[in-house]
Amino acid sequence: MANLHAESLYESLRTRRARVGVVGLGYVGLPLAVEFARAGFSTTGFDLDADKVRAIYAGKSYIDDVPTKDVADLRAKGLLTATTDFDALKDVDTVNICVPTPLRKTKDPDLSFIVAAAESVAVRLRPGMLIVLESTTYPGTTDELVLPILQRTGLVCGSDFFLAFSPERIDPGNRKFHTRNVPKVVGGVTSDCTRLASALYETAIETIVPVSSPRVAEMVKLLENTFRAVNIGLVNEIALMCDRLGIDVWEVVSAAATKPFGFMPFYPGPGLGGHCIPIDPFYLSWKAKQSGFEARFIELAGAVNGAMPHYVVSLVGDALNGIRLPLNGSRVLLAGVSYKRDVDDIRESPALDLLALLQARGAILDYTDPHVPMLPGRLWPNGINLEHVEVEALPAGSYDCVVVMTDHAAFDYDLLQRAGKVVVDTRNAIKNPGPNVLRLGGPRCSQALESLATA
Ligand SMILES: NC(=O)c1ccc[n+]([C@@H]2O[C@H](COP(=O)([O-])OP(=O)(O)OC[C@H]3O[C@@H](n4cnc5c(N)ncnc54)[C@H](O)[C@@H]3O)[C@@H](O)[C@H]2O)c1
Repeated sequence: MANLHAESLYESLRTRRARVGVVGLGYVGLPLAVEFARAGFSTTGFDLDADKVRAIYAGKSYIDDVPTKDVADLRAKGLLTATTDFDALKDVDTVNICVPTPLRKTKDPDLSFIVAAAESVAVRLRPGMLIVLESTTYPGTTDELVLPILQRTGLVCGSDFFLAFSPERIDPGNRKFHTRNVPKVVGGVTSDCTRLASALYETAIETIVPVSSPRVAEMVKLLENTFRAVNIGLVNEIALMCDRLGIDVWEVVSAAATKPFGFMPFYPGPGLGGHCIPIDPFYLSWKAKQSGFEARFIELAGAVNGAMPHYVVSLVGDALNGIRLPLNGSRVLLAGVSYKRDVDDIRESPALDLLALLQARGAILDYTDPHVPMLPGRLWPNGINLEHVEVEALPAGSYDCVVVMTDHAAFDYDLLQRAGKVVVDTRNAIKNPGPNVLRLGGPRCSQALESLATA
């Protein structure tokens, strides 16, 4: 590295003298800031949300995967701080941008958070800084959007400052893989940019995978998430097929998974959720469309996965029909409203779609979810505010139907089965299903439900 700024930053990363900044302290930003602080850097988190900043300041975590003790210890050592004052960006040497990348209602990318974050860095940009974008986005965002905002300052990328893209691959709730042991793909605008960004991550992450450009790194993340969306779409379609054919899709997938090569199991469910899989592939299809390319797999998977909550409504209707009850006026309990097992994240959760669909059909709704104490009605059309119901206290048959939407480890599935006259299990979570259980993608036992009605 002949460049003086690059050499000096490299050295201060190596010796941990560099001051590290993380913009956006959510599911991605907070774990990353904690890892940098743990690696010995003086780390500052920036967020617009004063509650998050106050929590960190008080040594508390608000993300399940980050223990409060870790935040408290790093605070006590003076290695981690947080602020809403973006002027403090003047005092950091590196900035990782971890802000949201949602879709607009039209399914177009909403890059306003990235633009706002890049602009707040640009006005404080000084020679020798390294900026890394981590938010998931379409290929070209770093070069076409962030780079011009930063270069408007007159500083030149690759000689005055350094810019890279490195996708976050965190899997909230995963006990085995976390920020530290998931390999980090890094693509810089120049080779110095890649080397400096890699040098930063090497301090906190076990394996670094350098690639030739930000575009490649952006595309890597979208390939990974599109791969999941498409395969989940495929297995959801197989589940619908198995329902028609009277075959148990869960048995089929688990037997297929014994093949030691060429197959990887994906599981059907009530629909996609979270801030990644339902959204990211549409960033890619939007970008492809700009070049006249139709991303057909993405659109098809989106249609199949998006229709799954409607299929669950039909299962609830069928289960109630089996005991001669209409959906209208029936008491329905959703078990699990977060989008996946053992997390508190309700963004894009298919449970919200199901609540809207069941409410529109006149069902009387409740939910139980130990990870989500309250569910504001503004999250679905004409929604009503709901609060978590304790299942332990319920007499048998309290609900006409219980719908298992999320397979949380904390659920007592015997109690859930007891709480519902009938049960729809969308996750194959109930290991000893009684005759009142209808499983998504499982064979229909209509005689079983009929016998309950006549019992
Ligand atoms: N959640 C995941 O599992 C996951 C996994 C991999 C990648 N990602 C990607 O990472 C990015 C962040 O996702 P997340 O789940 O952490 O989102 P999040 O909503 O949990 O956190 C984003 C944070 O950014 C803050 N913010 C918004 N605008 C800001 C600004 N201008 N300046 C400073 N802070 C600002 C918000 O207040 C929020 O605290 C997204 O692009 C997402 O697709 C998420």
